[in-house]
Amino acid sequence: MPARSKATPDPSAPGSPRQKLAIVAAVAANGVIGADGGLPWRLADDLRHFRALTLGHAVIMGRRTRESLAGPLAGRQNIVVSSRPDYRPSGTEVAASLEEALARVSLPPPAFCIGGAVLYRDAIERADTMHLTEIDREFPGDVRFPPFDRGAWLEVRREDRRSNEGFGYAFVTYERRSPARG
Ligand SMILES: NC(=O)c1ccc[n+]([C@@H]2O[C@H](COP(=O)([O-])OP(=O)(O)OC[C@H]3O[C@@H](n4cnc5c(N)ncnc54)[C@H](OP(=O)(O)O)[C@@H]3O)[C@@H](O)[C@H]2O)c1
Repeated sequence: MPARSKATPDPSAPGSPRQKLAIVAAVAANGVIGADGGLPWRLADDLRHFRALTLGHAVIMGRRTRESLAGPLAGRQNIVVSSRPDYRPSGTEVAASLEEALARVSLPPPAFCIGGAVLYRDAIERADTMHLTEIDREFPGDVRFPPFDRGAWLEVRREDRRSNEGFGYAFVTYERRSPARG
């Protein structure tokens, strides 16, 4: 096969404008994903799942999600999206938009959008895959996962689990049925 010329970039390559994008989110039965600037639940199994998925990849997050973390996520390229020109969180690159963040990715695909709701709203149109932890209980909170067209997504994997607190949850993977925007 002939080598690609510079005019036709490899869409699977890091930094490509068609960089593969996956969303990761844990979502309660009432759509809640956040409360008071943090997560509404403690679910160590979900944190392990999140780590296993994202290690060695770029993680792209909104400014408020970055501020909810103690520091950058180790073993990953951390990119935060913010419109604030003077925002300089430690160990984290800053981009002015999701597209700029994707252009900065230097680790192998996919890049992961890890929230929060403001950034998910942008990413959901652009993502190829969604890894949702669907929690089978309602939680109080002030941030919700954005509504999305379920018909546009195909469930390809579901793994049911039960927490020590007695509620069920499932690790669910969705693939987009038709090509994503971008
Ligand atoms: N359950 C989960 O899986 C999960 C995952 C992540 C976060 N969370 C929770 O969600 C909450 C935070 O979410 P949130 O929706 O409030 O905030 P967020 O999406 O994390 O951050 C919002 C900020 O990010 C920047 N931003 C986002 N999209 C942008 C865009 N397209 N262009 C430019 N800037 C953009 C803006 O920052 P500037 O104001 O600086 O311009 C915006 O104010 C927390 O409670 C967190 O714990 C839950």
